[in-house]
Amino acid sequence: MNKTKAAIAGLALAVSTVVAQAGEVEVLHYWTSGGEAKSVGVLKDLLTKEGHSWKDFAVAGGAGEAAMTVLKSRAVSGNPPAAAQMKGLDIQEWADLGFLANLDGVAKKAGWDDLLPKVVSDIMKYENEYVAVPVNVHRVNWLWANPAAFEKAGVKVPTTWAEMIASGPKLKAAGIIPLAHGGQAWQDATLFEAVALGMGGSEFYNKAFVKHDDATLRSPKMVEIFKTFKQTRDLIDADSPGRDWNIATSMVINGKAAMQIMGDWAKGEFTAAGKEPGKDFVCAPAPQTEHQYTFNIDSFALFNLKSKDAVEAQETLARLIMEPKFQETFNLNKGSIPVRQGMDETPFDSCAKASMASFSSTAKSGDLVPSFAHGMATTSSAAGAISDVVTNFFNSDQSAEEAVTKLANSVKASL
Ligand code: GAL
Repeated sequence: MNKTKAAIAGLALAVSTVVAQAGEVEVLHYWTSGGEAKSVGVLKDLLTKEGHSWKDFAVAGGAGEAAMTVLKSRAVSGNPPAAAQMKGLDIQEWADLGFLANLDGVAKKAGWDDLLPKVVSDIMKYENEYVAVPVNVHRVNWLWANPAAFEKAGVKVPTTWAEMIASGPKLKAAGIIPLAHGGQAWQDATLFEAVALGMGGSEFYNKAFVKHDDATLRSPKMVEIFKTFKQTRDLIDADSPGRDWNIATSMVINGKAAMQIMGDWAKGEFTAAGKEPGKDFVCAPAPQTEHQYTFNIDSFALFNLKSKDAVEAQETLARLIMEPKFQETFNLNKGSIPVRQGMDETPFDSCAKASMASFSSTAKSGDLVPSFAHGMATTSSAAGAISDVVTNFFNSDQSAEEAVTKLANSVKASL
């Protein structure tokens, strides 16, 4: 290569590097199951259409525990991704440490304050300014059922915890695993919080898991809840330890198991498998929680970056997330409902419509409660303490009384 050619080649390389880096957004997320990957693909496509590039940084692991560990180590080493899935009280903690970019300009321009329920915008703000953008609203207290499996066993889909426990022997006799469950701490916590909400009610739930009232944590009601929770173990097969949530969902899809207690990201798996609600599967409120709604809001936070192009790409990502097109397509795939208010409900299925109706009625009745199992109710240390007690109890022969004492003591220590 002669000198001129080499110089041009060098220049081209430099230009192409600049172009490739300009407008690139590295996005840390944990959406790796079938339905989740389809959903995140929607965002990637929209961003790419705007001329920016998406660098995927997916860290597998339900509920994002592994992803959060990776995020911490990247941030501590001074190399955070441009955007990361982050939610609930974690947003405040990261903002307080000074890591997060201010999104208030984007938010003001698009009028987010008028488009979001206050319960959501409060979570997204730090010192009254947006530092995160919400994606959706997931309802956690759902029961997913395979109607054919119930029919085969001659039992109906349970509406109380007692009915659920009683359905076990008949389902087993028909060769069906009653409850599809993955033995992972966050899944144990998801099941436990549904039992607690159903048996204790919304006020009890908030007192225990949001306010951490000691008397409520130590109450006879809590003992009863732990006892019922332990009884659901008999409904679960021996292979559950370590099983991922979406594998458990696939057991309901193919009729190997009758039901699963899981948030409506499970519906994303049914949808991805081409199944229809009301026909191939049924969504029902988790037992005894018909008039309650445990919410879980996914969101993204953007990390402070210096380059102008990178900031522009980040802000484009934030703007796109709140736009109707993304809100509709993403949520149709994800199983959740749009967080943006005033959206057309027509394209959504019966489960999503039920979730929308319940979200607004429970917001009025005081039965809209934050999920502690999904980082919405309390600090990560208190949520971790609760979830440790719950999972240790579920996987041992510890008595309910012992677990309740441990619960109250470790919540107190975590505050
Ligand atoms: C939840 C999250 C959902 C879904 C699920 C399984 O915590 O909010 O979007 O990803 O975990 O990983």
